[in-house]
Amino acid sequence: MSQEKAQTDGGVIYRRLLGFVFPYWKVFIGSILAMMVLGSTEAAFAAVMKVITGAGFVDKDPETIRWIPLMIIGVFTVKMISGFFSTYGMSWIARQVIKTLRKQMFNQLLRLPSSYFEGTSSGVILSKLLYDVEQVAAASSQVITILIRDTLSIIALLAWMIYISSSLTLIFLIITPVLTILVVFISKRFRKLAKRIQGSMGDISHVSEEAIEGQRVIKIFGGQDYETQQFENVNEYNRRQHMKIVATTAFSTPFIQLLVACAFALIVYMATLPDMRGIVGVDTFVSFMTAMIMLMQPTKRLTTINALLQQGIAAAQSVFDFLDQPQEKHQGGKTISQTKGAVKFEHVSFSYAKDKDKILDDVSLTIEPGQSVAFVGRSGAGKTTLVSLLPRFYEFDEGRIMLDGDDIKDINLNSLRDQIALVSQQVTLFNDTIAHNIAYGALGTVSEEEVIKAAETAHAIEFIRELPEGFNTHVGENGVLLSGGQRQRLAIARAILKNAPILILDEATSALDSESERYIQEALDELMKNRTTLVIAHRLSTIERVDKIMVMEHGKIVEQGKHQELLDKEGIYAGLYNLQFKN
Ligand SMILES: Nc1ncnc2c1ncn2[C@@H]1O[C@H](COP(=O)(O)OP(=O)(O)OP(=O)(O)O)[C@@H](O)[C@H]1O
Ligand SMILES: [Mg+2]
Repeated sequence: MSQEKAQTDGGVIYRRLLGFVFPYWKVFIGSILAMMVLGSTEAAFAAVMKVITGAGFVDKDPETIRWIPLMIIGVFTVKMISGFFSTYGMSWIARQVIKTLRKQMFNQLLRLPSSYFEGTSSGVILSKLLYDVEQVAAASSQVITILIRDTLSIIALLAWMIYISSSLTLIFLIITPVLTILVVFISKRFRKLAKRIQGSMGDISHVSEEAIEGQRVIKIFGGQDYETQQFENVNEYNRRQHMKIVATTAFSTPFIQLLVACAFALIVYMATLPDMRGIVGVDTFVSFMTAMIMLMQPTKRLTTINALLQQGIAAAQSVFDFLDQPQEKHQGGKTISQTKGAVKFEHVSFSYAKDKDKILDDVSLTIEPGQSVAFVGRSGAGKTTLVSLLPRFYEFDEGRIMLDGDDIKDINLNSLRDQIALVSQQVTLFNDTIAHNIAYGALGTVSEEEVIKAAETAHAIEFIRELPEGFNTHVGENGVLLSGGQRQRLAIARAILKNAPILILDEATSALDSESERYIQEALDELMKNRTTLVIAHRLSTIERVDKIMVMEHGKIVEQGKHQELLDKEGIYAGLYNLQFKN
């Protein structure tokens, strides 16, 4: 990226950030006014120095001398009040901006397509939400504060210097080109390093997250050394990038001070030349020197602030990049209240990525309202993929899926999903109570009786009753405190409670013992009676009673019919069935 491009990008990002500040423009203006006052107090102090030396020591004017202590206290009182309001105001805005950004990011998180989560590790996403947003805050508060306050101080001080002696100021300004070049160079470097640090924060959280979630696998397969090494790599990289920033700052600050000191020395030399003595009075000289010394601090801050500024811009870039990710498509505007449940796949083909193999290949099928259809076939045949297309977890280009005669792409996404209850192959539970997990999404609209009824139907009540806190027992992160079968029964109870016209059961009873499975199967049979059901099962005994069985192989439906018909056909299904029957 060229220097110019990098700068305009920075500009665009900064303008966008200012958009977030806009709602608080009153506070913003107030803080800036406070900063202006604060900035000018510096020059005011230099001016007081002139009075002290001129009227106080040279002229010894008693009237003025009396006022000098009051002037000093006055200047610092103004400095204190304006300092408080500028800092408080800016920080207030910054925290508002952080909150807004986090809120938008979280909303975005809820609306991103499944494919985004499959392509980005949750550690990286978390680090954006936690770390990057804070970095943005540093940019939007401290940077603006220092930038405005110190720029104003510098302008005010320079103005005062020019006013009292333009010739000396001119000498001082000789150093500005060198200073500018230095600042431009440092900016570029900071931005590059800040980006690397963000990336490495993502890596650190990613590796940690895997170590937390995979702790059992790590222990039993002896992965400690490997994980330690992985972590060492990202941790060391992070440290090294930070040290590069420190090195740049540590060099640039004293270097700038040295530059100013050179100008300082030159001025002292010039001012003390015999020809100049008459022109520059003692009071002017002292005041000028005070102003110059006071210039050091803001100049120094302005250059170190670059680190923050560049970090902020790089972080904002990462945040905005996340916010700009395309959300799930809501092409459809049609809202449906209660579908009859007629599902039709018309020549649907699908692959997870453009250049990847087709996972579904020209699938056509019809499910009448209220029918139950089972999908069977080898692992990896595409069963889960097929049922994932109905709630539009993935977008597909080839073919159509119709629900009651409407293309599902024309149906409002939320209302489409309202029609579907799902028990997926991987049960997801929230770190909350059992009652909350069963009633998830419907809290507040369902009664306690309904929750208990659903738990009864799913045969979950048996184990819930035995828990010390019953329905109020917390299940731990993703239900770690429960057994596999218990988790599955909660997932079934949740689906039962939703009472949607379409039910998808993906290996919903795979984790249950044969006895519980038989009970639940009866309950599920009851549930399937008056709704469209798509069942996926490896244990073929559980699907004998469905209306239609679809046998899938390599993304195609290769056989379909009733259980007995397929057995008579002596094809793939009959083969699978006989194999299981023998076992
Ligand atoms: N999110 C994904 N991204 C990319 N490829 C995927 C994804 N999910 C599944 N696949 C691939 O798609 C194919 C079909 O997977 P799918 O989960 O639909 O199989 P399945 O029939 O449900 O198998 P199983 O019986 O083991 O659950 C597999 O080859 C798998 O590698
Ligand atoms: Mg599957």
